[in-house]
Amino acid sequence: MRVGILGSGLMGGKLGTIFARAGHDVVFSYARSEQKLKRLAREAKGKARAGTPGEAAREADALLLAVHWSRVDDVLKQAGDVSGKVIVSCSLPMNADDTDLVIAHTSSGAEQLAKRVPKARVVSAFGTVPSEVLFGVFAAKRKTSRPSLVYCGDNDSSKAVAAELIRDVGFDPVDAGPLRIARYTEPFTLLIARLAYEGDGGPEVAYRFERFGKKG
Ligand SMILES: NC(=O)c1ccc[n+]([C@@H]2O[C@H](COP(=O)([O-])OP(=O)(O)OC[C@H]3O[C@@H](n4cnc5c(N)ncnc54)[C@H](OP(=O)(O)O)[C@@H]3O)[C@@H](O)[C@H]2O)c1
Repeated sequence: MRVGILGSGLMGGKLGTIFARAGHDVVFSYARSEQKLKRLAREAKGKARAGTPGEAAREADALLLAVHWSRVDDVLKQAGDVSGKVIVSCSLPMNADDTDLVIAHTSSGAEQLAKRVPKARVVSAFGTVPSEVLFGVFAAKRKTSRPSLVYCGDNDSSKAVAAELIRDVGFDPVDAGPLRIARYTEPFTLLIARLAYEGDGGPEVAYRFERFGKKG
């Protein structure tokens, strides 16, 4: 898959690196320094290169949107035409100092994003785990018991693309339903962040859902 990274920071830099190591063709874009994008591409050691958001978007089968909420408009403007593109977003609608959601309950960041780019196909994924756990999950990929990762979206084929990327990182994708379910997954992330950054166990936290009892 050709994956364009829009926002090459903690989430985009790590996920792009993992996607490249999993065999995808990755373009890192949108950082404050071109040197950083080149370094990420070099160190990913797969098929990866640095580019502009427009270059990242042009040929992409999937785009990862991984910028602060305040930068979404800017990066999308630079990306240009994203009609028909699968946009996997881990971006949360956080306020400037990252202490609270600015959209919740009656809508979600993912739904606002989908309204902003109505011709793209938005899937909300990866936003429910801290960046610090991603390489650890990838390294443990061969183990039988994988951590879960919830995702949601309104289009089945784009959700299949997201599920493939989720599996490639080492998670067990859990389809949570339509995009409006991001109203629940986005606040859930604040719980995960609390456990990651305020607890004693360190930020390398993932979660796993278990089912008990007979099926059907
Ligand atoms: N970090 C996490 O653990 C985590 C977990 C779940 C969800 N999220 C969400 O994921 C999204 C990305 O978070 P993150 O932690 O990866 O953010 P981040 O590390 O700040 O990365 C954002 C990227 O955008 C770039 N950027 C910011 N302003 C720019 C500008 N004016 N021009 C060009 N590039 C610019 C940054 O450049 P530089 O590289 O030069 O800084 C960086 O590459 C956010 O919406 C966040 O809420 C984060």
